[in-house]
Amino acid sequence: MIDLTVKLKNITFRNPVFVASGTFGYGIEIPDLVDISRLGAIITKSVTLHPREGNPPPRIVETASGMLNSIGLANVGVDRYITELIPRYESLETPIIMNIAGSSLDEYTAILRKVESVSSNIIGYEVNISCPNVKKGGMQFGVDRELTARLTEQLRKCTERLLIMKLSPNVTDITAIAAAAENAGADAVSAINTVVGMGIDAITRKSKIYMTYGGLSGPAIKPIGLAAVHKIHRKCSLPIIGIGGITCGNDVVEYLLAGAIAVEVGTANFRNPGIVQAIVRDLYTYCKEQKIDQISGLSGGVETYP
Ligand code: SIN
Repeated sequence: MIDLTVKLKNITFRNPVFVASGTFGYGIEIPDLVDISRLGAIITKSVTLHPREGNPPPRIVETASGMLNSIGLANVGVDRYITELIPRYESLETPIIMNIAGSSLDEYTAILRKVESVSSNIIGYEVNISCPNVKKGGMQFGVDRELTARLTEQLRKCTERLLIMKLSPNVTDITAIAAAAENAGADAVSAINTVVGMGIDAITRKSKIYMTYGGLSGPAIKPIGLAAVHKIHRKCSLPIIGIGGITCGNDVVEYLLAGAIAVEVGTANFRNPGIVQAIVRDLYTYCKEQKIDQISGLSGGVETYP
């Protein structure tokens, strides 16, 4: 019997394959296309204190082995999330992790306080301190150890639910930010968010993204994600959720070997919203062929050269 379950804090997930924030809407849009009960967890789209329209178009462009986005945190705001979405999660079997974003410490805290004040089956929060597409907040927190620590500490006081800090690769030393989150009480980190990039049209000579720069995701960034996870795993002892360019079961295994305990699939959902089901099937096949009973045993198992 192959066991794909993984544990994080006091929660057991049916498998280690989650869907990444911003790539699966609020988790309820595509139930007819996808059997969401097969997903390890759904991380919902970033929610801010007030509704946001996001950045003007063009805000998504395809690149070699990836995609650039500069959505700018378009979302319905926390009040509508509470009244319109949280009630719909009650009937879902899939664990829901709410992603939150803010432009100040107080904004992040206000969101959490609002959500904590209502009854919900949300199992935790992923805190977006790594969005490269907004002028205030977002990545501003995730590139600064001190701010990361203060925010984590403040949010920790507001919730006993799972608290995951989502880290940016656009830093000199991601392990220093992960350590700050760990010491301030985070339950886990997720790594990595997108890598700052740019697209230019040679004929029109125009930037392909209205905001000039965007966040690069997809297979192009998998090696960056793997290195980040491996470095954090070497330095910190908190659980890591790996993100970046996952499209198949072997990609998941690579992230687990690098030190992750679970992964988030992002950009691949845009090509095929059912891809996570295929990835989970891949994992069964991998475990069967490699004679692995428990997938959680793979975490951190990469052999590096001396
Ligand atoms: C965006 O809304 O611009 C993307 C979210 C992110 O990169 O965190």
